[in-house]
Amino acid sequence: ATAPGERPLAEWTRHALAEVEDLLSATLRAPGDPFLTTVATHLLAAGGKRLRPTIALLAARFGDPGRPEVVRAAAAVELVHVASLYHDDVMDEAATRRGVPSVNARWGNRVAILAGDYLVARAAELVAPLGPAAVEEQARMMTRLVTGQLRETVGPGRDADPERYYMRVIADKTAALFALAARLGAHAAGAGPETREALGAFGEAYGVAYQLCDDVLDIAGPDAHAGKPAGADLRQGVATLPVLRALRGRGRTPARLRGLLRGPVTDPGRLAAATRLLRRSPGLAQARAEVARHAGRARHALDALPGSPARTELIAMCAHLAARASGKD
Ligand code: FPP
Ligand code: MG
Ligand code: MG
Repeated sequence: ATAPGERPLAEWTRHALAEVEDLLSATLRAPGDPFLTTVATHLLAAGGKRLRPTIALLAARFGDPGRPEVVRAAAAVELVHVASLYHDDVMDEAATRRGVPSVNARWGNRVAILAGDYLVARAAELVAPLGPAAVEEQARMMTRLVTGQLRETVGPGRDADPERYYMRVIADKTAALFALAARLGAHAAGAGPETREALGAFGEAYGVAYQLCDDVLDIAGPDAHAGKPAGADLRQGVATLPVLRALRGRGRTPARLRGLLRGPVTDPGRLAAATRLLRRSPGLAQARAEVARHAGRARHALDALPGSPARTELIAMCAHLAARASGKD
């Protein structure tokens, strides 16, 4: 990114994100293959918050954010994220993403899988100049993504505690990528090991809070958030934290919910009934409290870092997540 100088953080971040955007476009251009270019840029062109690149950029502020490697790191984490969405939408048979038809809906599963592979390959190319430690870091995080997604697919065995199992799944399938964003941003900026550790811990906790917030909004949010229809987890039969908590106990509500939630809920009437019960259940309030708790952990991880506008911004992001989950935002 261009040297930060005295520019205010928000302006610098905007500029750096524009550089990330340019690098993403340049990286995904497949010479001589306009179809691959179209397919590979489909979701990026549809929008997205660029949250992971933003975290990478903010993390870079704890080192020398003017290094060219910083923009590479920020672009690479977005590519890994988008790649995982291409594959995830195949697995979940999702029809839409970011408010547009998913890649699989538009071009079929085979194209979506290969395009996802292409994105992973390009992300690896972007990270290579950052050196072997960064490459290893990225590979480790991708291993966790795959592990989390596989465990979600397989589900907890009879002996496993479902909530512990679930928390491990989301740490791997979601938080690992946030941790990578923070660590890679700091690494690219030449930050020292203690700074990288603190930012990695921030990313890990923030990622858990982020996924739990998503789970809460799937039940209690406005009808569609992030371009996805609400109730998607219930339709797929994914027992998220609010659901697992609501199913606990002996009362009438857990019993009724158990009846309604046997397997994926495809019937609209059943989905509405289950959503109504879940919204009133203490499980939802408990899940909201867990979002706040993990957001607090993320914030706490930043205590190890010197005060700066970037640190203030990361703290504000934690507060924003907790507010979003509580319905106050
Ligand atoms: C979205 O979850 C999916 C993930 C967070 C991870 C997906 C990971 C893989 C497919 C492993 C392969 C990884 C790579 C790098 C190719 P969700 O289905 O709960 O959320 P959604 O509502 O956004 O679909
Ligand atoms: Mg999905
Ligand atoms: Mg999924």
